Amino acid sequence: MGRVTTRAPDLWHHYGRTRDGSDRAVPPAFYWNWGQDAGPGPEVLGDLTGRHVGDLGAGTARHAAHLAAHHRPARVAAVDASPAQHATATGLYAHLAPRLRIIASDAVSHLHATTGTCDVLYSVFGAVDFTDPRELLPAAAAALRPGGRLVFATLAHHLGGAPARPDARPTDVPARTPDGETATMHRWVLQAHMWTELLGEAGFTRITTDVLPATTGGPRAADTLLVRAHHPS
Ligand SMILES: C[S@@+](CC[C@H](N)C(=O)[O-])C[C@H]1O[C@@H](n2cnc3c(N)ncnc32)[C@H](O)[C@@H]1O
Repeated sequence: MGRVTTRAPDLWHHYGRTRDGSDRAVPPAFYWNWGQDAGPGPEVLGDLTGRHVGDLGAGTARHAAHLAAHHRPARVAAVDASPAQHATATGLYAHLAPRLRIIASDAVSHLHATTGTCDVLYSVFGAVDFTDPRELLPAAAAALRPGGRLVFATLAHHLGGAPARPDARPTDVPARTPDGETATMHRWVLQAHMWTELLGEAGFTRITTDVLPATTGGPRAADTLLVRAHHPS
């Protein structure tokens, strides 16, 4: 009998489906906040002209497409591990190549393969939220060139209002398989001091955290924690 291989179900298969069918434009703006409607924008990343940029957990690559179209980087790598998200991103924005590269990969593997080549890495509720920070943050530090920076938007508290964790442990959050079955996945919803500690352990310096308040009410509203850190040199 041949070898049977099993692949983990794509828990991001359903994410963003409604919008992807109707809105195919390159977004005219880039936001960090949970509501995607206010607050600081790409200036937080510094001048991107001629820079090598990576979006970790890019989803359908809307943020990366905006940067590629409006900020003159040398390259933006939109990295996502979900086959569904990668396929949608390719359908929406493949025409922005070669400035935009849409890459199907786990973020940690991608970072290990690009050691010392990136100027700017960022994540908007992306891979930083869903990957063990003790694996991802050191890999990000190693992937950055001297002077490079990592910026990420993450939840300032759990959805529903429970506080962020004071330790480096993940929370199990609900998810759905492509077939619609219920599942769970890990999400790291950590207090600001915990992110600062983990970034310091990974070798980052000049670490700052800011809370961007929710712009709406309701059970799915959330404050955003915007975290900035720099390569040690
Ligand atoms: C909440 S979505 C955010 C997508 C996008 N950043 C946005 O703002 O629309 C999280 C994304 O992170 C991706 N992701 C999570 N962990 C990842 C990892 N370790 N490597 C690559 N992608 C990852 C998922 O596949 C998913 O597309």
